Amino acid sequence: MTRVTTTDLWHHYGRARAAQDRAVPDSFHWAWDQQAGPGPEVLGDLTGKTVADLGAGAARHAAHLAVHHAPDRVDAVDASPAQHGLATTLYADLAPRLHLVHADVVAHLRAHPGAYDVLYSNFGAVDFTDPRELLPAAAHALRPGGRLAFSTLAHYLSGQPAQPDVTAAEVPAKTPEGESATLHRWVLRKHVWTDLLNQAGFTDIHTEELPATNGPRPATTLLITAGHPTT
Ligand SMILES: C[S@@+](CC[C@H](N)C(=O)[O-])C[C@H]1O[C@@H](n2cnc3c(N)ncnc32)[C@H](O)[C@@H]1O
Repeated sequence: MTRVTTTDLWHHYGRARAAQDRAVPDSFHWAWDQQAGPGPEVLGDLTGKTVADLGAGAARHAAHLAVHHAPDRVDAVDASPAQHGLATTLYADLAPRLHLVHADVVAHLRAHPGAYDVLYSNFGAVDFTDPRELLPAAAHALRPGGRLAFSTLAHYLSGQPAQPDVTAAEVPAKTPEGESATLHRWVLRKHVWTDLLNQAGFTDIHTEELPATNGPRPATTLLITAGHPTT
């Protein structure tokens, strides 16, 4: 069943930055610190491709791809009214190459079979949605030859190891009014992700660990790519 969120727990995310940084980013990184390491080349040549960012937030990654990588279209999908609002404020003028979609990704992917060449999540919806729902929906929405790529935490921010099975953790969040709340985050070991991708029918699965760098909350990134079930 698709998760229904009644309170927007992403209200505060990226809000301070959006007030002062309205630029289309000139780079795109997968690593947790967003400073270095592999970039959009992981997605292949995007020229003329139909792409979706799953859990796009303010759509900074999607805006970068729309401006610098000549796709036919990037759909920046996010369920949060606040995040969709930020994306609209920042990047609505990049339409029609950038298309801002206010939707739950599972519902959106199920409603668009075979619509996409490339799906990606940069610490986005893949981290915060039951993968037993999201990954089959992603497989359904990809065209033959299409690929899924996502970056996720290789371990909890506390340093605790990732889960050895498909278990979500409750992580702290804030309501729009600033009250404490929790949301689900799936922090899973590499083999758990590859098993889930195999079960969803994906092939040609690659995983890579991007080492943590210095910073206030350093974390190792797990970068995973997988091919459409029929490739
Ligand atoms: C940590 S933020 C990352 C945003 C963006 N990828 C970035 O790098 O800034 C996670 C985003 O995923 C979105 N999200 C989580 N689950 C989702 C779902 N099932 N459908 C749509 N968006 C979702 C949240 O609303 C939030 O904006």
